[in-house]
Amino acid sequence: MNSSPWWKEATIYQIYPRSFFDSNGDGEGDLPGVTSKLDYVKSLGVDAIWLSPFYTSPNKDGGYDVANPRDVDPRFGNLDDAKELITQAHKQDLRVIADIVPNHFSDQHEWFQAALKAGRGSRERQRFHFYDANEDGTPPNNWISLFGGPSWTQVEDGQFYLHLFDSSQPDLNWDNPEVNEDFEKTLRFWIDLGVDGFRIDVAHGLVKEDVLKNHPDPQGLSNALRLDVAMDSDERNALLLTVPYFDRQGVHEIYRKWRKLFDSYGDRNIMAVAEAWVHPPVNATRYVRADELHQVFNFDLLTAEFDADVLYDVVEQSISLNATVNALPTWALSNHDSPRVASRIGDEQARALALFVFGLPGSTYVFAGQELGLPDGQLQDSDRQDPTFFRTNGGIKGRDGARVPLPWSGNTSPFGFSTGKPWLPISQSWKDLTVESELVDPKSSLHLYKNALELRKEFLVGSGGITWLESSQHGSKSNSLLSYARGAVTVVMNLSDSAQECEANGKLVVVSSGTVDARDGKKVIPPHSTAWFLA
Ligand code: NOJ
Repeated sequence: MNSSPWWKEATIYQIYPRSFFDSNGDGEGDLPGVTSKLDYVKSLGVDAIWLSPFYTSPNKDGGYDVANPRDVDPRFGNLDDAKELITQAHKQDLRVIADIVPNHFSDQHEWFQAALKAGRGSRERQRFHFYDANEDGTPPNNWISLFGGPSWTQVEDGQFYLHLFDSSQPDLNWDNPEVNEDFEKTLRFWIDLGVDGFRIDVAHGLVKEDVLKNHPDPQGLSNALRLDVAMDSDERNALLLTVPYFDRQGVHEIYRKWRKLFDSYGDRNIMAVAEAWVHPPVNATRYVRADELHQVFNFDLLTAEFDADVLYDVVEQSISLNATVNALPTWALSNHDSPRVASRIGDEQARALALFVFGLPGSTYVFAGQELGLPDGQLQDSDRQDPTFFRTNGGIKGRDGARVPLPWSGNTSPFGFSTGKPWLPISQSWKDLTVESELVDPKSSLHLYKNALELRKEFLVGSGGITWLESSQHGSKSNSLLSYARGAVTVVMNLSDSAQECEANGKLVVVSSGTVDARDGKKVIPPHSTAWFLA
């Protein structure tokens, strides 16, 4: 019997509920919509779903602006729908991970509304970061919001409150014990309703230091924190070491407390994964020390070039750093905050990278639609809803492209997603990317994902570490091939645009695109493709 906890090497399917499936024709996905598609989710071969927030929210930031963390927003259904989703998922042996947002609330949360009313110096204001203006009327410091513009907004009586994100997302003051008490209540609420784990939003951000000090280079820091701004890596790394509001020691005290809470549920094996963008990379391992959280996202593959040396470094570093704390890595190629991998590196390359990553030790995250090879949606500015777009006056287009609803069936947009008008338009060009059409195409991305996830479960999960076979550090003459062996499987990725010979032994079990030929006893891997060989 496999005694590993369920999450250890799980494949976790991220669902952005608003974009998954609309059950009531209002143009937005909802919880009953997710429940109705659990057969499909199960058929992919994944172990768990992670649901992006579905809590009561004015939806200024896709639900990451939570007005009541212990209720469901009517746009998504109600608490009974959440319960039913969890029950049905469990019947299919799928675990459910909820997304918890502890860095900030929505300005519509009752605490913030009470803080506005109660005025300066009140107990209510101490749950947030309220401060007086400087003598010249400027905000308490010069920090820039992650979504652009100042990190401070002034209220009627002249005080400012801190918001690292949108002005509708006031940051909570984690020095106030009431905040942790309330979050522990929320964690228990969802565990008691049946969830199996949590994805912790901005897990590195809860504790702030130097809230009344200016940063020496706020614009530089803001650029360094943004993945879409090109910057010399030494300069970026130096700036990232100066963030006063991320990755402070105090956050670990919080997760130690939470770990005790999770462990108090015994063999339910409640897990948590941290969204922690930290620098240097070794700091990420602190979140997964034995008495803290279970997983931490590795975001490197969201931006890594399709290049053998770059990918070798990402994989090697993540495996070896996690090993120092006896943890396994996580892998993600796409999520709701980043360009979809097929658009970022190309369709064939995205398949090749997925198959390469599915063989690795650790947990794999798949963002709904990634299995279909969806590109980013092409949107008009008038369609956009991301606060980043508005806070930068359109300077940054934002993340809506990755959030376009899923195409399910039929030949005409919105492809069965909704009987109404979808909240973001789905391009007619996605006709051949629907679930229905990919199911009947044996060469589709969907088939590749299903095959690969089944093989992963059968031959790779639980089979230990990898041994590199081909990389420029392991005697490869070119920067074209990257290959490792794990258990009985040899995984070979050809990153170049021409076919490449390799020495892999064994029988071909899956290839991401094209055909593997044999030549003079060697295997020939097609361009931009990954193959698995079973000994
Ligand atoms: C990270 C979430 O993934 C993102 O969508 C959100 O905008 C920010 N955190 C703020 O909550």
